[in-house]
Formats: sequence, structure tokens, C-alpha cells
Amino acid sequence: MKYYKKILILILFIITISLFCKNSFAGVSHVLSRNADYSTDDHAFLTTDTLYVQVTQNILDYREIKKSFFTLKSHQTKNKTKYPLIWNSDLTAFTGLAPLENYPIGDKITIHITLRGKNAKDEIKRKDRFVIGNTGKWTLTGTIYEKISDKGTGTLTNARVRIQGVADINTDDISYYPQEDDKFILSGENGNFAIDYEGISGQVIVITAGKEGYKNAGKEITLGHNNSVTITLSLVSAEDHPSYEYRSSKSCEKCHSTIYNDWQDSDMAYAAVNPINQLVFLLYTAWYVTGDRANFTDPSIFNDPNPAFVGDKGKIFEDATGRYMILGDAGHIHDCADCHSPSYASKVQGDGVTPLWDMRAGILTDVDKLSFVDKQGVHCDFCHKMHSVRDEEEYWTEPGVNYKVNLLRPDPLLESSREGKVMFGPFDDVIYKSMQASYAAQFKKSEICSPCHQDARKLYLQPLDGNNQPKGDAIERILWSEDTYREWRFSGYSGLEEDYPVNNYVGKVLQCQDCHMKDPPPDPTIGKSIADYREITDPFFMISEEKRKYATKRDPRTIYPHRFEGTNQNLTAGKRKRYLDWAVDLTVTDTKVEDGILSFDVNLINSHTGHTYPSGVTQRNVVLLVEATQSGTVLSQSNDQVIDTPGGNFPDGYYEGKGDYAGKPGKIFMKHNRMIVDNDELSPFFYDILYAHAVEELYDTRIKANQTDTTHYEFQTIDTSKITITARLIYRFLPKGTLEFAARNGYVIPLEENDYESHKVGVSLNP
Ligand code: HEC
Ligand code: HEC
Ligand code: HEC
Ligand code: HEC
Ligand code: HEC
Repeated sequence: MKYYKKILILILFIITISLFCKNSFAGVSHVLSRNADYSTDDHAFLTTDTLYVQVTQNILDYREIKKSFFTLKSHQTKNKTKYPLIWNSDLTAFTGLAPLENYPIGDKITIHITLRGKNAKDEIKRKDRFVIGNTGKWTLTGTIYEKISDKGTGTLTNARVRIQGVADINTDDISYYPQEDDKFILSGENGNFAIDYEGISGQVIVITAGKEGYKNAGKEITLGHNNSVTITLSLVSAEDHPSYEYRSSKSCEKCHSTIYNDWQDSDMAYAAVNPINQLVFLLYTAWYVTGDRANFTDPSIFNDPNPAFVGDKGKIFEDATGRYMILGDAGHIHDCADCHSPSYASKVQGDGVTPLWDMRAGILTDVDKLSFVDKQGVHCDFCHKMHSVRDEEEYWTEPGVNYKVNLLRPDPLLESSREGKVMFGPFDDVIYKSMQASYAAQFKKSEICSPCHQDARKLYLQPLDGNNQPKGDAIERILWSEDTYREWRFSGYSGLEEDYPVNNYVGKVLQCQDCHMKDPPPDPTIGKSIADYREITDPFFMISEEKRKYATKRDPRTIYPHRFEGTNQNLTAGKRKRYLDWAVDLTVTDTKVEDGILSFDVNLINSHTGHTYPSGVTQRNVVLLVEATQSGTVLSQSNDQVIDTPGGNFPDGYYEGKGDYAGKPGKIFMKHNRMIVDNDELSPFFYDILYAHAVEELYDTRIKANQTDTTHYEFQTIDTSKITITARLIYRFLPKGTLEFAARNGYVIPLEENDYESHKVGVSLNP
């Protein structure tokens, strides 16, 4: 290469770099809008419109700008008119407006924007164009194709075609989120479609198409010019690549900052490293490997990389239905990671039970098998690599990702190409290139949550006679544990089961997402909403401020900020737990005094929970504590409606009897299981029962959706002065027995962090 050519290339290189830097560090952007809030970027206007101009820049100090204006030049008349741009400190931008009534339909208008500083060289100039059109209704037509191979294409039927950003929402219904009245149409047999659109001639819109298993695609169309398009969708590779390296949620933050912040504040982000999970994990592992729960602090249990299941195998127990020997358990050693560190567990997807089995996060052992991304628990890239979830009944007893989820992870070798990327999501009209988005219908359904929010222990039992000899065939016993999905499904919230017609406080189907990814909808009958209710109003909510130019303006009701809020165990003690306050109502009724006996009912109404209350892991329980006082004396109860043993009775324990409610007037709401108690050290733990160890369900007093629990109380009065009745509801993350057990083993959880008083009702009466 000649000498001067090299120099030329070098100069070009430097120019390119400097232009690039200038663009990324300093910039000017403008919006031409038909709306006074600059919410749309338009290039077609009506003569009845006002043009709203907004200019943002970070090159000059706005105080030094001496002249700021724009001019409009008509293509037809050549007339030029000047309008001022004025500093708007709320928007930190220059804004201006111009009526368009004097321009003829069909006119093309050039806009020149000028911001001028003190010196002549400090000048910013921008040029753009728009058209004046007329309103009309266009029938837009076209054909959807699929790319079959590198060579050819074929037409694609049943693709969802829509105008980008026009949502599946009934605009008349402002109350919440109906999915009737869909605004998309399906492509026909030859891939053809025709879609009506009302707009302005000259306006540019995007037609998009999406179909499960394909990447979304779209094309621009100018109304009145070309009303027909062809769109070609390419298939998502049907092969899952377990060697794919998940992307850190941090990498999503720069474009999805609000979603990231909400997720980061939720328990989801700590599912792998939460200390209480670690304790329970160690318990589980110890028992799984050695059959004994007591030696869980012994690190040698981790030496065997692929241990056989021991658990309760071979143990004998008896219950009301008979005597049994435990033959085995459907559990696997990586069970916990399947839900708590799903990206880690999914690396073994091929054969399910490979040696990569434990989820010892670095906080407890030196051997840290979880990577930086795996430690992010249930993270962005994991959920958005789920293509579909198997939701048939047979999967309800299986834990987490290895059995229920179809992941489609791209080939890591193609990382830098389009084929090396895919993002599954709820929208069929996201066509932003670096996402490679693919529509997945289940993202709008509770089923997407079901792999982890539905689980059971499946036991294989051999019935025995009195002499421990086999009696009949082996049987299967299912002990539902995290049962939230089924609780929702068989309730008036799902609309999925014939026996449970839609019946709840809003009268519409509500998915998990509708209550947990955003705030639950307000109650129209009582006119109340959850404390600090926040509705999404920003149509660009899903994209960070700086990246909005890539985003589509959307109906805010279609956007789900990822709050994943529920009982919020990670909120500090004393902080209000909104969902627990909102979940139920507590009332005291039928109060009377007869023959010196005070009697009344306490009603606990599951009015706003989309499933059983309390839900979740079997440890969750709620204590209803009832008290009656007269003349400063606590009255003694004269009936036997009292709190059962799991309410706590440990006067000599770590907490010295504080928070011990067993035997007091009231009721405990919990799913109470039983495990085989083979170790005295662990007996308090009996009152809790980690589902993984359960052999029998003793009772389930939790309240199903829309149902009311009523308990009756009687107290002996002492005189005729005023009586005060108090009913309190205390939500407990862990039962008292588990707290005592944990404290004894060095995991001290303060009572104020575990117990949350959500309701307190006081009633006074004169006998
Ligand atoms: C537990 C699974 C899960 C996790 C974790 C998750 N998402 Fe989502 N995401 C969903 C579901 C489900 C939807 C669809 C909600 C709907 O429309 O009903 C969704 C929707 C979205 C959307 C579409 C816009 C919207 O908000 O509705 C974006 C963008 C998105 N997620 C990005 C992220 C990012 C970024 C993270 C991490 C910070 C993340 N997601 C973590 C399940 C998840
Ligand atoms: C460079 C910016 C950028 C980054 C980084 C980014 N996104 Fe996006 N993402 C977008 C844009 C832009 C859209 C489309 C917005 C629209 O059309 O309204 C989008 C859309 C999505 C959607 C919706 C897809 C659909 O069809 O429903 C999901 C899900 C999503 N992103 C997840 C993620 C996740 C997870 C990460 C991190 C691994 C991530 N994004 C990183 C810019 C980004
Ligand atoms: C109508 C609103 C609503 C719907 C629908 C709903 N939930 Fe809930 N959810 C609540 C409320 C209120 C609470 C707090 C009371 C409680 O813990 O039972 C809660 C609590 C939870 C908890 C916390 C349990 C714990 O142990 O901390 C989880 C997990 C949960 N829900 C998951 C789900 C899943 C999964 C679905 C869908 C299958 C769902 N929810 C549907 C309102 C709802
Ligand atoms: C890959 C497994 C997985 C999926 C999928 C999943 N979750 Fe979870 N979720 C978890 C785990 C694990 C936790 C418990 C985190 C902890 O406390 O350690 C959790 C916790 C929660 C909580 C409890 C937060 C609290 O405050 O108590 C809510 C609410 C929740 N998830 C809702 C959802 C919803 C809604 C979906 C579907 C859109 C979903 N989850 C999908 C695994 C999952
Ligand atoms: C089927 C999925 C699934 C499996 C398998 C699973 N978990 Fe969970 N776990 C969850 C979900 C979802 C939650 C959170 C919401 C709730 O309370 O239901 C949770 C919550 C917990 C909690 C309560 C956390 C808290 O903040 O109080 C502990 C402890 C826990 N899991 C430990 C374990 C251990 C140990 C294992 C393995 C034996 C395990 N889990 C297996 C899904 C699962």
C-alpha cells in the first residue's frame, strides 16, 4: 500500500472515531409531535393540528443560548415562517409550537431548528421534514412468510399481525386488564392479511408479525403511498443449548432500569443466597445423603459428588390409615436449585441427575459452585429463555426447571450473530434488533410461574401388617407443598376449571402477574386499593430514559414492572408489608353477654388473595390471637377454641416464651404436616415441617380464596363494666418451632423480623 494511502486511512479512522465519540457523549435530539406532551414522534399532521417541537441537547449551556427558534418552509408555497423555542426547565429542553392551519393538504414541510450561542461558531442546527395529510381509513394488506432455510421462504399462516404498539386492550375499559377485543389479526392460509387502520396520509407506521417459535419481525409502511408489505419471520432454533452462558441481569439494567430496580428489590433476586434458604438446604442435604437431619453442620456430607438418595428410605411409620415402610421419594438432590438457582440447575438439563447437584452458595462453604449469574437467583435472562412450560397435571408434582420448563437457549458459538440471541416475552410486536424477541403466549399466564410455585413430595410406600410384613401393593402418596398454582387454579380467579367459575373482587380472571408483577387491582366495590398503590402511567416505562428512542409507545396497562412483591420477608422489621395488610379482612361479630358469658365470632375473610391464605412454603402460618378484658383484667376463656401447638410453647427456649401462643384463645392457620421424628434434638422442628420431610398431612386450616373462616369464642365476665375484645392477626414466616431450632443452631432470627401484625380489631361493649 502506498504511503499516502495509509495516511488517508489513518485520517479517516480518526475522523470516524471522533464522530463516534461526539455522538455518544454529546448530542442533540428533537421530537415533532401532534401531542402537547411530546409523547409521540410524528411526521404526518392534519391542518387542524398544532405542531409541538421539543429539542434536547447537551452541547451548549442553555443559559448561553441567545437565539432559539425554528422555521417552517412550505414545499408548495415556498413561504417561510419563524417560531420561537423557549427554555422549559421541567423538561430541561427547548420547546415551541406552531399551528398548521395555513398549510394545504399534501404539502411537504421542512423544519429548520436553530440554537445559537454568543459566538457564531456555537450554533446547533437541525433539519427535518413532515407532511400535511388528511385523515383516512386504509386497508393495509400483505403476506407473512417464514424463512425455511437459507434458500427459500414459504407463506406462514396464523401469525399475529398488528400495527406496532396498538395493544390488546379494550380502550373503553379503564379499570384493569381485559384481554378481550384483541387488536391483532391472524394471517390467513396463504399468509395473507388485511388490517384496517385510521390515520393520516403520509404517516409512517410499522406493521409487525409474531408467532410462537418464530422471531418477531416488522416493516414500515407510509399511509397512502404503499399500503402493502411482505414480512418474513425466521424460526427460533428448536434446539436448546445447555452450554449457553446466561447474561447477568446487570447487562439488562442500562436499557431496562426501572424493571431491573423492581426485580432487584424482590426476593427473587436473593433466592439462591438467602441465609434461611441455605440453612434449610443444609438440613435437606444432610438428610438426603445420610438419612439423618442432625448432622447438617458436617461438611463431609459434600464429599460424595453423586450420592445415592437415602432420606427416609426404609423407615417405618404409622398414621390413621395404616402402617407403611418408605420405599423411596421422587426427590432429587438438585431439587432446591431447580427453583432457587434455576440457571445453575438448568445446566444439567440433559440427564437430570448429574453430579452437579448442590447449591452451596459461597456464603456457607469454600466450594463455591454457583457463578456470579447463578447467584442472582431467579434472574432476567433465565425467565426470558423459557419458551414454554408444561402445565399438565402430571407435572404438578415435579419441582422446577428440569422437568417442567422448555428452555430454548441459543448456541453460544453464534453469540455475536442474530442466531445467537433470543428473548422470549409477552409482546408479538417487539422488533428491536438486539433483542431478537420471540412471542411466547404463556408469559401472560400463571402457567409461566407454575414450574416453581407448585411442588409436592411424592412418596412411594409399602403398606405393612402388624408384623411389618408387606401387605398389598406399593402405593404413591402425594404431599402437596408449595401449592400456590393449584390453589389459584381451583379458585374463582383462574377461569380454568368448570367447577370454579370466575368469581372474585374484580369479577375478572386475574393471573399471578396481575397481582404480583404490578400492584393488585383496586377493589371496585369497597373503592379501596392496596396501600401506596402505584399504577403505571408512563408509556415508555419498560425502557430507560436514555434509550427511549428505541422503544415503542405502549398502553401503560400492557407493561408489567417486575415487582414480584408478596409477603416481602426481606423488608426490615416494622416496615409495612402491603400485601399482608391487603390480603384479608378481619371482623368481630355477634357480640353478646348472657348469664355472665361473653360470646362472639371472629371472621377472617380471604377477600383479596388470588389463592389460599397464607400461601407458599409450608412454613408460612398465621396466628389469630383473641383477647377479652374487663376492668383491666384479662378474662378467662370458657370454650376450647385455642391455638394449636405449632403456635409455640417453648418457655425455656431461646426466646424465653416470647411469641408462644399455643393454648391461647384463637386459631392457627397453616398446613400442618408431620415428619418422622427420629431425633430428640429436632423435635421442636416437628411443629414446622419442611415439606421435603413430610410423610403425612395432619391438617390444613388455611383459608381458600374468597372463603371466610369463622371461629366462636366464649369468656367468663367478672362484673358489669365495659368489655374490650381484641382480635389480632400475626403472620409468621417461620413457625415458632423452626425459630427455636434455628436459634439453637446459630441462625438467630429476631421475633420482630419473623412476626408481622397485619390486622388488629378492637370492639367494646357494655354487658
Ligand atoms: C420470574 C420470571 C421473570 C423474571 C425474573 C424477569 N421477567 Fe421479565 N417478564 C416476565 C413475565 C411473566 C413478563 C410478562 C408480563 C405480562 O405481560 O403479563 C415479563 C415481561 C418483560 C418485559 C416486557 C415489558 C413488561 O414489563 O411487561 C421486559 C422488557 C422484561 N420482562 C424484562 C425483564 C428484565 C430486564 C428482567 C430482570 C431485571 C426480567 N424481565 C426478569 C417474567 C420474568
Ligand atoms: C441496548 C438496550 C437493551 C438491552 C441491553 C436489553 N434490552 Fe430488552 N429491550 C430493549 C428494547 C428497545 C426493547 C423493545 C421495546 C419496545 O419495543 O417497546 C426490549 C424488549 C425486551 C423484551 C420484550 C420482548 C417481548 O417480545 O415481549 C424483553 C423480555 C427484554 N427486552 C428482556 C431483556 C433482558 C432479559 C435483557 C438483559 C439480558 C435485555 N432485555 C437487555 C432494549 C434492550
Ligand atoms: C388477586 C391477587 C393475587 C393473585 C391473582 C395471586 N396472588 Fe399471590 N398473593 C396475593 C396476596 C394478597 C398475597 C399475600 C397473602 C398471602 O401470603 O397469602 C400473596 C402472596 C403470594 C406469595 C407469598 C407467599 C410467601 O410464602 O411469602 C407468593 C409466592 C404468591 N402469592 C405467588 C402467587 C402465584 C404464583 C400466583 C399465580 C398462580 C399468585 N400468587 C396469584 C395476591 C394474589
Ligand atoms: C424459576 C423459578 C421461579 C419462577 C419461574 C417464578 N418464581 Fe417466584 N419465586 C421463586 C423463588 C425460589 C422464590 C423465593 C425466593 C426466596 O424467598 O428465597 C420466589 C418468590 C416469589 C414471590 C414472593 C415474594 C415475597 O415477597 O414473598 C412472589 C410474589 C413470586 N415469586 C411471584 C412469581 C410470579 C408472579 C411468577 C411468574 C411470573 C414467578 N414468581 C415465577 C421462583 C420462581
Ligand atoms: C418447586 C420449586 C421449589 C423447590 C424445588 C424448592 N423451593 Fe424453596 N421456595 C420456592 C418458592 C417459590 C419459594 C417462595 C415463595 C413461597 O414462600 O412459596 C420458596 C421459599 C423457600 C424458603 C423460604 C424462604 C424465606 O424467605 O423464608 C426456604 C427456606 C426454601 N424455599 C428452601 C428450599 C430448600 C432447602 C429446597 C430444597 C430442598 C427448596 N426450597 C426447594 C420454590 C421451591
